[in-house]
Amino acid sequence: MSQSTSPLFPQTFLWGGATAANQIEGAYQDGGKGLSIQDVTPRGIMSDRVEKPTPDNLKNIGIDFYHRYAEDIALFAEMGFTVFRFSMAWSRIFPNGDEETPNEEGLAFYDRVLDELEKYGIEPLVTLSHYETPLHLAEQYNGWVNRDMIGFFERYARTVLERYHTRVKHWLTFNEINSVLHIPFGSGAINTPTADLEPNDLYQAIHHELVASARVTRLAHEINPALKVGCMVIAMPIYPLTPHPDDAIKVMNADHANLMFSDVHVRGYYPGYAQRFFRDNNITMTITDQDREDLKNTVDFVSFSYYMSICDSADPRARQGGAGNIMGGVPNPTLQASEWGWQIDPQGLRVVLNQFWDRWQKPLFIVENGLGARDELTPDGDTFTVHDDYRIDYLNDHLVQVAQALDDGVDIMGYTAWGCIDLVSASTAQMSKRYGFIYVDRNDDGSGTLKRYRKKSFHWYADVIRTRGASLSR
Ligand code: BG6
Repeated sequence: MSQSTSPLFPQTFLWGGATAANQIEGAYQDGGKGLSIQDVTPRGIMSDRVEKPTPDNLKNIGIDFYHRYAEDIALFAEMGFTVFRFSMAWSRIFPNGDEETPNEEGLAFYDRVLDELEKYGIEPLVTLSHYETPLHLAEQYNGWVNRDMIGFFERYARTVLERYHTRVKHWLTFNEINSVLHIPFGSGAINTPTADLEPNDLYQAIHHELVASARVTRLAHEINPALKVGCMVIAMPIYPLTPHPDDAIKVMNADHANLMFSDVHVRGYYPGYAQRFFRDNNITMTITDQDREDLKNTVDFVSFSYYMSICDSADPRARQGGAGNIMGGVPNPTLQASEWGWQIDPQGLRVVLNQFWDRWQKPLFIVENGLGARDELTPDGDTFTVHDDYRIDYLNDHLVQVAQALDDGVDIMGYTAWGCIDLVSASTAQMSKRYGFIYVDRNDDGSGTLKRYRKKSFHWYADVIRTRGASLSR
């Protein structure tokens, strides 16, 4: 391992961290907030919903960012963040989702968050919808299956775009939009149980989301031409399990299923392979002429989460068991996995950066990456810390691959490490699956003081930002 003294990242590269409202804010019924779909998935977005919110849902309190945002943003500033990704909770602003007028108290909260970011010169990167659609829209309309959702989303987006267009330049429409294939309720607020969901309805929902995203992109540009709108997808390179051509075709099809979303976002129409998929599977959707026009409002940049790669195989036996992540997939025998079965593959990040850049020639933004791990809080003088060398190793090795991709000529806008402060996990709703540079004293049973502590990785990341990557070990 060696270190160089010259920066590996350009001066313009944005450095920071990423979060989502439902995983940090808590205050799930304060300030006039309505319920979101997260309030009925206390076991995580991959599990079944329950009928009512439960008191043991860790997201009810989250990490209490709603009350502690100033302290948290001060810590981000101490690390040298130049960007902070967070989502606005749709149900804080439109509690049911289908009202005519917004909830002023909800907006006032985001005014305060933005004030605080501005104090430190940290640029906001706002996700409009991060797995937290108002519950009423799921129950009353069956979520994105219903075309009315386009109008509701537009009204919400117009409200925040008009209010914040001079304060927030970079916007993302739907978090990990391609996850709807795997978690229709968590991602698309589709209330129909997954086992009963017809492919027609699923793809109609996807179509509505894509149209809504494109319409909001146009709206943003109309409100302020300086705004930049990105899509957000799960990036997961898929490797063939064997060199057999059947495995290569299987991978091609799996890639198409994942990449269709960003292909439409970037190109403005459904590619030929998607049309063939719809034909072969008798999927008939309502696509109006106006929809086709709307889709032509393409994104300014492509953002994505990257945690792991997977393999795929034409042999159904190899697929049994699968990898422990939203997309499933076949485990790669050459890679190690986290305790939650997410396989660690830093080079896969360079692969997707090159693949996406070659495919779209649009600036890319890595808006999620990190290692979920258990941490142990240990005494450190008159305070406590976590010696999270495993997290440092993970992030170091991924950032080295980002630098490689920059050398490959890929246009990369920035990097926001996921869960820069410990938060409630999306897939398992645990606190113990931690990603942060900042430890939050809260446990899976809900106990804890919510006090914040700097981990070893806090100081490490501050150095990486300060030296623009020169401090990375290679
Ligand atoms: C992404 C989501 O899927 O992965 C985040 O956008 C999520 O909301 C992150 O938290 C990590 O997943 P998990 O399940 O470990 O929290």
